[in-house]
Amino acid sequence: MPDDVTMDKIVSLARRRGFVFPSSEIYGGLGSSYDYGHYGVLMKENVKARWLEAMVRERDDIVALDSSVILHPRVWEASGHVGGFTDPLVDCRHCKRRYRADHIDQSECGARPSKHPGETELCDLTEARQFNLMFQTRIGAVEETGLDAYLRPETAQGIFVNFKNVAQIARRKPPFGIAQVGKAFRNEITPGNFIFRTLEFEQMEMEFFVPPAEADKWYRYWIDERLRWYIRFGIREENLRVRPHEADELSHYSSGTSDIEYLFPIGWSELEGIANRGDFDLNAHTEASGTRLEWVDSGSGERFVPHVIEPAAGVNRTLLAFLVDSYTEEVVADRPRTVLRLHPEIAPVKVAVLPLIPRSDDITGRAQRLYEELRKVVVAEYDDSGQIGRRYRRQDEIGTPYALTIDEQTLEDDTVTIRDRDSLEQVRIPIAGAREVVLDRLAQEWKTPKPE
Ligand code: GAP
Repeated sequence: MPDDVTMDKIVSLARRRGFVFPSSEIYGGLGSSYDYGHYGVLMKENVKARWLEAMVRERDDIVALDSSVILHPRVWEASGHVGGFTDPLVDCRHCKRRYRADHIDQSECGARPSKHPGETELCDLTEARQFNLMFQTRIGAVEETGLDAYLRPETAQGIFVNFKNVAQIARRKPPFGIAQVGKAFRNEITPGNFIFRTLEFEQMEMEFFVPPAEADKWYRYWIDERLRWYIRFGIREENLRVRPHEADELSHYSSGTSDIEYLFPIGWSELEGIANRGDFDLNAHTEASGTRLEWVDSGSGERFVPHVIEPAAGVNRTLLAFLVDSYTEEVVADRPRTVLRLHPEIAPVKVAVLPLIPRSDDITGRAQRLYEELRKVVVAEYDDSGQIGRRYRRQDEIGTPYALTIDEQTLEDDTVTIRDRDSLEQVRIPIAGAREVVLDRLAQEWKTPKPE
């Protein structure tokens, strides 16, 4: 990375400012699980909203879906997940820890953390065994008559099994897509690297159903389109790259996959996968369920099984990329400042209202009225605690693009100061037009001022 952003700095800011906390912390935490605080929730909602807008609202060939987390267990047999969604694991008989066989060189030995598993004389590793990543659960209160089921490891299958319902009601002819945002669960063994890899996460997946002859064209189209989405919301282009999978990396369903990778502090890693799934899923569910999942033209009677192009992104990983890419430490007037230079549409709070002298009722009264006006149209925050410099720093650290300060001059001439998070420019504007100025500035095109 051009700037020195470490995962520790991101973890520390995320915790300090209430974006992300370790889960179940008062019980010692639970590995690879995190909880999202106020700003984390607002930012996550922004990520999902921008994705849904780009997929559904700004186009007329994609519709939305929200399917169940727990689907019929046969879905996962047909999809290949029961048989094939596995990681190779090895156990150490000495330290009792379990490692992913293909990640040994990134893992710490349980007895000597400076070494990799297998590197000390004490290590006693088993052969690699396949371990299914799906979380199992049971439907029904009675153990004996209950039905084994799974928490979905991807949102995609909920889309395939609803293909017939949606295609009929949406009256769409391929190419068309179905988009879904929702939780997915995987029993991940690899240490998580903060929210990069967790047991529970959210996915943003879209299955684009196309005539078979057009599959390659749409595969390329979606790689470009998704790359553009990250750049549009402020990720620097040089921190993104597309990496086509080697033949031996391809998932059981895929005839071609490319990862959009981001230069995380842990190195280039997958942010999103775009897969050409062919007709694998629709055929597999047709065979297993007996319901033909195909597209039929009601006029001509033409029928075919569409091929599927799937851009599959992770909400949490995307949020992490936005945090990393926007994180900046700089010195301003001899004082250090940490700022998240987030795209205004991703930033959790859009504007802060700060009364300069909190003891003055006149000033706080004006500030509160302005805050009430602003919060009707954008996420706004009112803060009258502590020195003004500290309040600015707090807003910088959560990435608030604008701050409006009310001071004694406001009482004299009805103006307020608007401060720009990125340029630090401060100008006075009439309080009566402050709402329009903020909305206007938020709507302007934004490009990160961070150096390439
Ligand atoms: N339907 C295809 C599919 O699920 P994937 O590459 O396994 O493909 C898609 O997952 C995206 O979901 C990944 O690129 C990543 O952003 C996110 N993801 C997958 N596993 C994750 C985990 N354990 N924690 C956080 N995000 C994860």
